[in-house]
Amino acid sequence: MANNPASELLETARLFGVDYKTHFDPKIYLENYHTTENRFFNKMLEMFHELAAAAEIRDGSRLLDVGSGPSIHSVISAGSRCSEIVCSDFATQNLDEILKWVNGDPDAHNWQRYFEYVCKLEGKSDEWKIRQDHIRQAIKRVVPCDVHQENPLAPLVVEPFDVITSNLCLEPACCDESSYRSAVKHVTSLLKPGGILFLAGVQGETFYSVGNKRFKVFSQSNEIIESALAEVGLTNLRWYNETGDIKKYTCERVSFPSDFSGLFAVSATRISG
Ligand SMILES: C[S@@+](CC[C@H](N)C(=O)[O-])C[C@H]1O[C@@H](n2cnc3c(N)ncnc32)[C@H](O)[C@@H]1O
Repeated sequence: MANNPASELLETARLFGVDYKTHFDPKIYLENYHTTENRFFNKMLEMFHELAAAAEIRDGSRLLDVGSGPSIHSVISAGSRCSEIVCSDFATQNLDEILKWVNGDPDAHNWQRYFEYVCKLEGKSDEWKIRQDHIRQAIKRVVPCDVHQENPLAPLVVEPFDVITSNLCLEPACCDESSYRSAVKHVTSLLKPGGILFLAGVQGETFYSVGNKRFKVFSQSNEIIESALAEVGLTNLRWYNETGDIKKYTCERVSFPSDFSGLFAVSATRISG
């Protein structure tokens, strides 16, 4: 690796925090992770599908997706019964990418394969376009977010949500257990009593890359997540963990794959106000 300049850059660079605003390229991220069929995101979609199917999401619910990046796949399952979806991210270039998709811009990323996959899991293969149209019109706002602020959507003040989804965001956004716990507290403050949180990501990961940029990740565990959720009054946890032969989930298009050792998704209900 030492003879390869790009690898050397990866060795030294550990981007984090405000770096997302300048170094996270949504086009490269989408090209690396969301362009061709890959087992990693199929598994993510399966986990979201399982958890959403088991949850009681009322028709007309309001959903917030935290740390959406340039992506909308995290809301395809849970958003099916929601009439209002808010996507959010720290980096405005990601918000612009989502807006392109919402507005039907020809340069927008094509998420058709993801809609087809989720609708197939639901046994409604022929309804993918209806779901796509639904999600597109349900995304009413695309807003800045910082999970390190007490109100992550500040200065925006909104009614708490019925559903919050967040995929692959809290671990890259946090540097240690203490900031992770605070971020969970901030995010779940936006959830109504009785509301449902869907959290997903990877475990055992210290970095991931987007093109030749390497981003730092806080490696947590089920125990940390469980205790962080209990601390803020979330209960009824339903887990989905994938470990073992994790190499099969490596995205082929990523030149410098990350070092995760497991995938997880968990749903939880807020009991206290
Ligand atoms: C690996 S991407 C995940 C994107 C998307 N959720 C997905 O599943 O494809 C991590 C995202 O976390 C966002 N992020 C980083 N720090 C953040 C913070 N403090 N608050 C909110 N989002 C943050 C980044 O801008 C980036 O879009």
